[in-house]
Amino acid sequence: MLLLAAAFLVAFELLLYMVSPLISPKPLALPGAHVVVTGGSSGIGKCIAIECYKQGAFITLVARNEDKLLQAKKEIEKHSINDKQVVLCISVDVSQDYNQVENVIKQAQEKLGPVDMLVNCAGMSVAGKFEDLEVSTFERLMNLNYLGSVYPSRAVITTMKERRVGRIVFVSSQAGQLGLFGFTAYSSSKFALRGLAEALQMEVKPYNVYVTVAYPPDTDTPGFAEENKTKPLETRLISETTSICKPEQVAKQIVKDAIQGNFNSSVGSDGYMLSSLTCGMAPVTSITEGLQQVVTMGLFRTIALFYLGSFDSIIRRCMMQKARSETADKTA
Ligand SMILES: NC(=O)c1ccc[n+]([C@@H]2O[C@H](COP(=O)([O-])OP(=O)(O)OC[C@H]3O[C@@H](n4cnc5c(N)ncnc54)[C@H](OP(=O)(O)O)[C@@H]3O)[C@@H](O)[C@H]2O)c1
Repeated sequence: MLLLAAAFLVAFELLLYMVSPLISPKPLALPGAHVVVTGGSSGIGKCIAIECYKQGAFITLVARNEDKLLQAKKEIEKHSINDKQVVLCISVDVSQDYNQVENVIKQAQEKLGPVDMLVNCAGMSVAGKFEDLEVSTFERLMNLNYLGSVYPSRAVITTMKERRVGRIVFVSSQAGQLGLFGFTAYSSSKFALRGLAEALQMEVKPYNVYVTVAYPPDTDTPGFAEENKTKPLETRLISETTSICKPEQVAKQIVKDAIQGNFNSSVGSDGYMLSSLTCGMAPVTSITEGLQQVVTMGLFRTIALFYLGSFDSIIRRCMMQKARSETADKTA
């Protein structure tokens, strides 16, 4: 009887695997497509641009520093697959003024055609204990990580809906799935993207436009090196419980998920677990994805409780260590 039930379950899973591509979005064709990458001059954004270029896309890179943009353009152009491909550079601050962002997107569309895929990757992290962070840091991170994604998306969405073609990617973070010590400013700005993405996806899905939220783990980039300079000891020790990814690996996964129209994009087994655990009311893009979330939820919650317990003990250890060294200082 048990064997029969197991066989039925396997057969049911197989059937779902076979049917799920039929209800998933049609993949976006990258050859000849216009892909805009904010934050495309460095780190994950640059690798996303390279990945799309390798697949035949035309690229617009958006960032502030012109020298870095030109350097990235040269690097990306080494990966061309035909002589028609173009890399356009636009220097603008995506976090300041909506009209300015709209204007530069218009210019890019005049040169390379309507935007087929927008990757909102410009972002930064500043770590520190809540009371040690300047209030201006909360404002800066919200402006860049949240509004810096709202502005470019708002500038392309009408044309995408009219053409009934488009992908919008928000690059959040694993710190946008769970709040971690030291990330009160960063985590909240990345959590905000999830709310934006869920609401936007519900609005644009009838127009064949798909939204992806990417949750990269710690990734070896100039931005990560900068973040490490401000990390409290507790945050550093918690970060060290997982390994660091290569930006090329993260970029490959993000591009693959965006092409497929997957709402969720994560990397590695930690990423998979976190995404299943925090799926909430997020849309699914295949029956199998939904089924896997239902089946794995209880197990992943159990594992997560162990992780949370180990983070608590790291924080307690750090507090004791600091208290000991303060006492030693006083007695010296
Ligand atoms: N690296 C990680 O461990 C990690 C993990 C999870 C999530 N993420 C997220 O992934 C994204 C990329 O991170 P990364 O580490 O690759 O960063 P990165 O190497 O520091 O690159 C950041 C890019 O954003 C651009 N940028 C910054 N501020 C901007 C602004 N105001 N307007 C326009 N462009 C701006 C930068 O160019 P300019 O400075 O010239 O403007 C650069 O091109 C970020 O959103 C980050 O939060 C990173």
